[in-house]
Amino acid sequence: MKISIINGPNLNLLGIREPGIYGRQTFEDFLKDLKDKYPAIQIDYFQSNVEGELVTELQRVGFAYDGILMNAAGYTHTSVAIGDAIAAIKTPVIEIHISNVAAREEFRQNSLIAAKSVGTIAGLGLKGYELGLLYFL
Ligand code: DQA
Repeated sequence: MKISIINGPNLNLLGIREPGIYGRQTFEDFLKDLKDKYPAIQIDYFQSNVEGELVTELQRVGFAYDGILMNAAGYTHTSVAIGDAIAAIKTPVIEIHISNVAAREEFRQNSLIAAKSVGTIAGLGLKGYELGLLYFL
């Protein structure tokens, strides 16, 4: 099984970025633990701060992988292009958010990718990525 994790802008700063909201663990540390825990699954990771690069990666993996876990970060609330890319590809996408976006500012409660995704996991910290992985399993 091949799973792709795609993270959007500022998620490269996990561990130092607003730790009260996003925690103190870097994504690299989390990913290492996840791969160790599920050695039979191929888990590939892509992060970009650039909207078009996220669209290109969705198109690249979106016809070849079994599942995509996508945290589009700030682009969740603004990007027609990422929503369109999710609708265009074959691989199912789960929308992930580390924080509980429903409990935050009003602009975070609108997602342009939720309706194109299989479902959304939010507010469970980095554990949300593992729970998405278990869904695909
Ligand atoms: C986020 C929530 C977004 O609103 C925010 O812009 C992010 C991270 C989350 O994982 O909680 O960058 O997607």
